Amino acid sequence: MHVEMPTPSDQEKQRSQRCQQIIVDEIHNNQQPISFQRYMQLCLYAEQVGYYESGSDIFGSKGDFTTSPERSNFFALAFAVHIKTIKQQVGTFSIIEIGAGSGKFAADLIRALKQNDCLPQCYYIVEKSAALRRRQQTYLEAVQADCNIEWVEDLNKPTECGVVIANEVLDALPVKLVTVEDNNISERCVTADGEGNFQFVDIPADKHLSDLMRERLPTEVLNKTASPYLCDINLLLDDFIKQIASFVNQGIFFYIDYGYARSEYYHEQRSMGTLICHYRHVANEQPLMWPGLQDISCNVDFTALAEASVNCGLNVNSYSTQAHFLLASDALEKVMTDNQDAMTLAQQAEIKRLIMPAEMGERFQVMVLTKNIQFSAEQFTNRDMLHRL
Ligand SMILES: C[S@@+](CC[C@H](N)C(=O)[O-])C[C@H]1O[C@@H](n2cnc3c(N)ncnc32)[C@H](O)[C@@H]1O
Repeated sequence: MHVEMPTPSDQEKQRSQRCQQIIVDEIHNNQQPISFQRYMQLCLYAEQVGYYESGSDIFGSKGDFTTSPERSNFFALAFAVHIKTIKQQVGTFSIIEIGAGSGKFAADLIRALKQNDCLPQCYYIVEKSAALRRRQQTYLEAVQADCNIEWVEDLNKPTECGVVIANEVLDALPVKLVTVEDNNISERCVTADGEGNFQFVDIPADKHLSDLMRERLPTEVLNKTASPYLCDINLLLDDFIKQIASFVNQGIFFYIDYGYARSEYYHEQRSMGTLICHYRHVANEQPLMWPGLQDISCNVDFTALAEASVNCGLNVNSYSTQAHFLLASDALEKVMTDNQDAMTLAQQAEIKRLIMPAEMGERFQVMVLTKNIQFSAEQFTNRDMLHRL
């Protein structure tokens, strides 16, 4: 599908050209095409010019996309209610937020937890982007007196008890692209022509990738002959989940993202994969366009997330929609009773967008995992969909 894209400024075009050159050089040094996973890694994180490293405004109405916490502080208020019930069970705890974006969620959550008299021992932030780390440090100055906040790359010593939160982080992990036709599995890689323009090229998949795809794809997709079936797979997920699981001796993990259970993820009719790009709120499927200027993300295979978690000793507590997770806390009632008169219609509309099924309510899913502790699933959802995985 062709989409009209807004035109970048001259400055943005120059930055994109620098990002493009870094990738072209790597393809030339490599003397062969690079995997899409590597291409996406460079587009998002190349030093200074990658999407998340450039320091430009990417979140909210002035940026490219709006996440739930950017839309409304109701998202953090609901988490604060859930965390209060967790604290009643565990006592002292720390929070570990992965991929904190602008820092808004952390600030809203710390304020809400302070009001609920339920602050953590420490609020750790694990952030890959150096530019966003600096932005978060500035944004969070306002709440630093209330709560000890630390930015860490890795937790050398696991925290005793942790609440781990990652909103829209798994979708930013670079993925591999795969094409399937008549039982042949190829990896879709990226090459550059003599003028440095990127093109896709399909090469036979190696054994590891091919075996994995044969495990995950349904027979009707493997045998599809009419036209190639394009899909994606996240090969970084297992190590990522394992690393994060190692941050706590005991704890609870919340992964919120858009995605599907595997049977929907690799459904025969989803023949173009789940990769999606955003540039100034225009969604498109052209990841080779304007490298470094657009967000590139991919839906989450929640079955793969559950498998990765179980493989590193976690327990899958529940899997539900964002709406059911938010409504399982009494945050909505509380917000409405405490603030209804003070809330503008626009603020109320943003809360609705987080919950409404046709908006973010059903598009986003929440997977709750635990390590060395049990919680009832009903605490976090009134409609568990674990059976769908
Ligand atoms: C789509 S943004 C979401 C930001 C924020 N959680 C929100 O909801 O507004 C993705 C965030 O994850 C970070 N990120 C991506 N991969 C990461 C990784 N491997 N470790 C830590 N942070 C990561 C990005 O730099 C960015 O801050």
